[in-house]
This record gives sequence, structure tokens and C-alpha cells, in this order.
Amino acid sequence: MRPYKHEPFLDFSEESNQQEMKAALQKIEEEFGNDYELIINGERIKTESKIVSYNPANKEEVIGTVSKANQELAGEAINAAEAAFKTWKKWKPEARADILFRAAAIIRRRKAEFSALLIKESGKPWNEADADTAEAIDFLEYYAREMIRLKDGTPVSSREGEYNKYIYTPMGVTVVISPWNFPFAIMAGTTVAPIVTGNTVVLKPASSTPVVAYKFVEVLEEAGLPRGVVNFCPGSGAEVGDFLVDHAKTSLITFTGSREVGTRIFERASKVNPGQIWLKRTIIEMGGKDTVVVDKNADLEVAAESIFRSAFGFSGQKCSAGSRAVIHQDVYDEVLNRVIEIAKDKIVGDPTDYNTYMGPVIDQASFDKIMSYIQVGKEEGRLVFGGNGDDSKGFFIEPTIIADVDPKAKIMQEEIFGPVVAFAKAKDFEEAIEIANNTEYGLTGALISNDREHIEYAKENFYVGNLYFNRTCTGAIVGYQPFGGFNMSGTDSKAGGPDYLIQHMLPKTISETL
Ligand code: NAD
Ligand code: ALA
Repeated sequence: MRPYKHEPFLDFSEESNQQEMKAALQKIEEEFGNDYELIINGERIKTESKIVSYNPANKEEVIGTVSKANQELAGEAINAAEAAFKTWKKWKPEARADILFRAAAIIRRRKAEFSALLIKESGKPWNEADADTAEAIDFLEYYAREMIRLKDGTPVSSREGEYNKYIYTPMGVTVVISPWNFPFAIMAGTTVAPIVTGNTVVLKPASSTPVVAYKFVEVLEEAGLPRGVVNFCPGSGAEVGDFLVDHAKTSLITFTGSREVGTRIFERASKVNPGQIWLKRTIIEMGGKDTVVVDKNADLEVAAESIFRSAFGFSGQKCSAGSRAVIHQDVYDEVLNRVIEIAKDKIVGDPTDYNTYMGPVIDQASFDKIMSYIQVGKEEGRLVFGGNGDDSKGFFIEPTIIADVDPKAKIMQEEIFGPVVAFAKAKDFEEAIEIANNTEYGLTGALISNDREHIEYAKENFYVGNLYFNRTCTGAIVGYQPFGGFNMSGTDSKAGGPDYLIQHMLPKTISETL
């Protein structure tokens, strides 16, 4: 087996890659408006009630309509997963891993098509869509290898006259609830981690991006996944989400999304319902309010680029987005001015255009929420760039920079999940780290510094799950930078890391007297 290596990103300055993406964008339009069904125990089920997935850059363009499960169908999905578990858990780990390797190969062959769908369904610009597809492939390749590594358990000691083993066994029915902002990578990663470890899944994808999830389940089928192992069950979070979380047959819940929903799931999962004979396990990854800190002796060009890209990549709609910039007072004005200069050059518009840096935000509710935060920002600080939005055709908001914000201000504390960055001034380095730590989250952070002592200080005191130096605070790579956060950012399960799969299994100790 080849050692794991992450999927390379495409270079779109190459004419052939540009042509391939343009062709893929044209080709997927032929499928627009198609109807997608639920998949329960391998059967396609059409419902009257539908989720309509549309292009956030053009509200008129319907990507597809997707059947919507109710509680009865969600119950059938749980039963199908429970039945499939009886045989799936007995598959050899290598055979389960092979399904993931095959799925990765299929997606690699259809990379442009999947990225084109992400551009249209989630509004990602080309590079962000390509990174999302690459990350989905990475999760498949990495978790397949991880399962092979863990298949015989972890060695433990044996005394004279005994033989001890410590192995990992599957748990059962897993409910996977995924967000729209990494509609391919996170949805795929959180689905294949439970299946490669021998569990079965009911997948409830985000309602804004269900088509890519359907297409992924089709890929798993093509790769040879038996029916019932993954059941595709889109539906309302409040109706179907609560039902799946509460169900007595659910063993494990793996959720990625907002703090509000994550804490709700955490609480509901702790209740033992009638017929339930285990305590549910939860993997819950939530939001962030992430900071780029700039030290006084930093490379200021690296600082400005890092702030810009952390704040505005995919319109700031990443849990890892650097929505706060905390700058040493000596270099504050210079860094702020340079970030404004960079912003002037960047194009906001239709992400199907190769030149677009920032596309739309996901929907009307997000647009309204972000615009209201910009209003608050104008009161809490000095609007120095952007601030305007246009939702006439799609949901477009300018990259927005608000300067001179108090570290405790609302826009410095609450996750906005849009293209807005707040700048705060620190009197010295220690104060900058204190400000960086002053939220209830703890997901990512970056320090731009050339001072070795300060770098060491940050390693110890910057309280985040993913800490980066002299780069962006976004863009973790599977198998290289395991991802997850502290405090209200979640359970720190570290997706794409060596501890991740173990959290989907029950360790079992076997001790034989010889
Ligand atoms: P969200 O919480 O609104 O939705 C996430 C999922 O939960 C969706 O599938 C939704 O339908 C479902 N849901 C809603 N109500 C539910 C309920 N009562 N029971 C069960 N499921 C329910 O989040 P979102 O808007 O899709 O995603 C954005 C959020 O996700 C941001 O806060 C972002 O920071 C976070 N996020 C975190 C990570 C991470 O790894 N920490 C990664 C990506 C996104
Ligand atoms: N894993 C994504 C990042 O690091 C969210 O940006």
C-alpha cells in the first residue's frame, strides 16, 4: 500500500485545468432540476415533501429537488442501519477499507464534476471547491489506512501464563449530521469514519447542500458498499434531527455545525430513552471565533496576506475563519492599510467565473444575519472597507473590515460566519495573546512573528485546538494537521488525525489464561 499523501490541489492557471473545469460546469447544468430520492436500505424513496437546493449566486437556478424524510422514514432508516450492522460489523477491516479506496478512486476520476457541483450548490470559488473535493478524497484515503493500522488493536502487556489483547469493536447505528460549509469533505469524512470502523449510518446532510451528499452515497454504492450501511435521509433538523438523536437504537452521533445545535444535541443525547441499553457517544464539532495575532517584528506582508485569506476565504464561512485580527500597536496601522489594499484588488461575484475571489454567502438567513452584524460593527468600530451587500440575484456581501474594535465587543466575541473581520490593537505581545484567548471558543489561531521566544510562549498559552505560525489559521490538511477545537468549539475529536477512528469504536480487553 502506498503511504498516505494528501491529494494535490489543481493549478487553475494551467489552461488544461481551466478548460476541464469550464467543461464540468457546463456539463452539470444538464442535470439541474433533477429529483433526488431518499436511499433507505438501498431502496430509492420519493416523498411529496421536498428540499429545494438552489445556487446561492443565482436564486433562480435550482440545482435539484431532494426528497425530505419525516420521522416515520427516519425510523425506517434507523431500522435499516440496525439490520445492516449485523453483517457489516463482521466484514474484515481491510475489506471495509477497500470500499473507501475504491470510492476515492472514483471521486478522483470525477474531481472536476464534483468541484463544479460545489461551485454551484455552495457558491465556492474554484480553488475552495477543489480543496473541498481534495479533502473528501483525503478522508477516504486516510481513514482507510487508519483502519488497517488499528485492525489488530493496540498492544498491551501480558504476564506469565496469560495472553492479553486490546482490540476495537464497532458500536452500532451512527447518526451523521453534517454542515453546508464543507458540504463534500466534512459530510464524506464524518460518514466514512463510522463505516470503515464497522458501524452503519443514517446520514442527514445540511438542507442547503443535499445534492452533493446524494452523489457521494451513489459513489459509495458504486464502490461496493452493501445496502443499508449508509442510509441517505435529508430532512428538517428540528423534526428529523431531533428524532434521530433521541432514538433508542442510536449508539453514536457525529455532528458538525453550529454551537446552538451542537449543544442541543449534546444535551439530548445524554438522556437515556425507553429501550436504550447504552449511553450514547457524541462527537460534536462546532463554531469558532478565530484570531490572527501579529507581533511587532513580524513579516508584515505575510501578516496582511494571512489575515486577508483567513478572513475572506469562502466568504469567511469556515469554522476556522480568522474573523479577528489582533495587532501589536507598533505595526497596527501598517498591517491594517495593507489588508485594505489587498481587499481592493479582489473580485466579489459569480464563483463560476475563474477570476472571482469571493462568491456569495449561502442563503437569505445568512445574508441577513451577516448584514446585521455589519451594522453592529459600524457602531462598535470604524468601518474601513466594504460593508455593502446585494441580495437581488444572489447573496453577495463585500469583504468587510472594521477597525479599532474593543476586544470585548460583540463582533469580537460572536461567530458571524461571513466576510467580516474585526481589528483590535494590543499594547504588547502578552496582551495580544490574552485577547486571542478571550472568547468562549478555541478552534484555530495563528501567530505571525519572527520572535522565537514569543513563538514558544504562544505554543503554551494560545488556547486553541489548531495553532499555526506565519500562515493562515484556515486550511488544515487531513493526516497533517488533525482538526478540532477546545471549549465551545467542540469535543476536539481531531478529524483527519490518528485518534479519530478510535472514537467510533468500543475498546475490548480480552485476557486468556494459558
Ligand atoms: P447548523 O448547526 O445550522 O446545521 C448543521 C446540521 O445540523 C445541518 O444538517 C442541520 O440540518 C442540522 N440540524 C439543525 N437542527 C438540528 C437539530 N435540532 N437536531 C439535529 N440536527 C439539526 O450549522 P451550519 O449552518 O450547517 O454550519 C455552520 C456551522 O458549523 C458554523 O457554526 C461553523 O463554525 C460550524 N462548523 C464547524 C466545523 C468544525 O469542524 N468545528 C466545521 C464546519 C462547520
Ligand atoms: N478544516 C477546515 C480548515 O482548516 C475547516 O479550514
